[in-house]
Amino acid sequence: MEVVAKAKRKRSKPLPAVEIREMELRDVAAVFELGQKLFTAEEWPSLYRSWDDHELALLFSNDAETCLVAEADGHVVGFALGRVMEKPRSAWRYGWLLWLGVDRRFKRSGIATRLVNQLKGLFIERNARIMLVDTAAKNHSAVSFFRRNGFGQEIRHVYLSQNLENDPRYIQRNDDDSEDDTDD
Ligand SMILES: CC(C)(COP(=O)(O)OP(=O)(O)OC[C@H]1O[C@@H](n2cnc3c(N)ncnc32)[C@H](O)[C@@H]1OP(=O)(O)O)[C@@H](O)C(=O)NCCC(=O)NCCS
Repeated sequence: MEVVAKAKRKRSKPLPAVEIREMELRDVAAVFELGQKLFTAEEWPSLYRSWDDHELALLFSNDAETCLVAEADGHVVGFALGRVMEKPRSAWRYGWLLWLGVDRRFKRSGIATRLVNQLKGLFIERNARIMLVDTAAKNHSAVSFFRRNGFGQEIRHVYLSQNLENDPRYIQRNDDDSEDDTDD
């Protein structure tokens, strides 16, 4: 309660009205820029997807109808980008919320809740039976947001890695590269 009160007290000016609408081509640059501020490489080390212009362009070109933005005073202040997917050998369709973000100046004013609710409606219209979300376990604000919005059945996923720099093949490859450079 204390934290909430603090977050709400800090906001001196009332926020402008926020509209949730389908994402359009003209929003791509603004969504990308906002995502770059929110999904920094250190906090988002996951390799299977990363926030880059290619990923966003691909998602928008294939799944624009399940991509939403929040707009205030003509500026994009939030987005929810999703996709409907079918798993092989499963009759079920899933609605996957891939990227959710809200401008820090607008946080905790209900924008992500509205985005997720609207996206949920779009998934249901497309016959999805389950909505999926994922985030890093240490992303406490997102985990708490998702729990608050009815998501549960949490499954922990483990990422493992191995440094390849000591592998003889890595060393050999780099030696070859540096020899090539000196040839130039
Ligand atoms: C997570 C995120 C989308 C929430 O957006 P939001 O617009 O602030 O969320 P809402 O205002 O709709 O919901 C707020 C509720 O979420 C939870 N929440 C949000 N931020 C929180 C925080 N920092 N600490 C604890 N709970 C938090 C609370 O339950 C909160 O309700 P309260 O304010 O009454 O306590 C936003 O913080 C964000 O963009 N984070 C960075 C990107 C990210 O992590 N995306 C999610 C994975 S793709």
